[in-house]
Amino acid sequence: MEMMFIMIAGMTTTNQRTVRPGVGTSTRNPAAAEAVFLDVTRRLLAPLRISDGDIAVDVGPGAGSATVAMAAAVGPRGRVYAVDLDPAMLDATMAAAREAGVAERVLPVAHDLEEGAPPLPEPVDAIWSSACLHHTLDWEASVRALASALRPGGTLCVAEGGLPTRCLPWDAGVGLPGLEIRLDEAHNRWSTQWFAGRTGARRQRRGWTEVLRAAGLVEVTSVTELLDLPAPVSDQVRTVVIEELAARVARATPFLDENDRATWELLLDPTGAHWLGHRADLGLLTARTAYLGRTPR
Ligand SMILES: C[S@@+](CC[C@H](N)C(=O)[O-])C[C@H]1O[C@@H](n2cnc3c(N)ncnc32)[C@H](O)[C@@H]1O
Repeated sequence: MEMMFIMIAGMTTTNQRTVRPGVGTSTRNPAAAEAVFLDVTRRLLAPLRISDGDIAVDVGPGAGSATVAMAAAVGPRGRVYAVDLDPAMLDATMAAAREAGVAERVLPVAHDLEEGAPPLPEPVDAIWSSACLHHTLDWEASVRALASALRPGGTLCVAEGGLPTRCLPWDAGVGLPGLEIRLDEAHNRWSTQWFAGRTGARRQRRGWTEVLRAAGLVEVTSVTELLDLPAPVSDQVRTVVIEELAARVARATPFLDENDRATWELLLDPTGAHWLGHRADLGLLTARTAYLGRTPR
């Protein structure tokens, strides 16, 4: 175990890469956002049935909340490889693991999925990857690469998408009703353009269940979990909601009309009377989906 740690930790140094734009976390404080979604993450992780002594992988761990949950599940006899192209994310993940007292079971691996399967020294029981694979150029190739790292009968769980997030009432009283609906639409246009604008991006013309099946996985299924935090939310949730909305608006701005741009400016201005931080009717309602499959035994 100790030898393996040294070897993998070495990889993080030699494989360090410059992080490409568009592949990172949505906001500046991913740990805060992950904390709000932790219950949902735990519920989505459950079907992986990670248990004592397992070898698991978190691909694209962000601030490491899922890595820590998986490290707790594998116990002292197991291990979790945290795979990310961004050294800052691996540092954040290791800091979270240290804080939770499970760092000796977590092995950081610096690796860009665009280069294929992560360089792991052993086949693994379970792989979790949340909000990461959609950043890659070829989702099918990424799923194939991850499936190849599993032992026979091992499980892959890819958490991607779900339902749009709703935080504001349909009529927020400022600008035109339906503000978030139009933000979704504008954000979708931004992400479509971002995705297709990259050299080598391959449009995925089918759903994740088919992508998993095409990679040779069997017993493919999906599960969706609801996050329902009704208004009034705690200060912690409010901060995350405002940060996430600000990040979405920043990306979607070129696709919003002038009226909506001005409305969002009012809502996101902490010095103004319309700031979202002043509202008691801000909530957080969304759903996240995970797709699962296992390699044949
Ligand atoms: C949006 S964050 C998701 C973080 C966390 N898993 C979650 O669900 O909140 C995407 C993560 O995937 C990593 N990532 C993106 N593209 C990657 C790639 N090609 N190879 C490895 N990691 C990648 C990012 O550095 C980041 O940690």
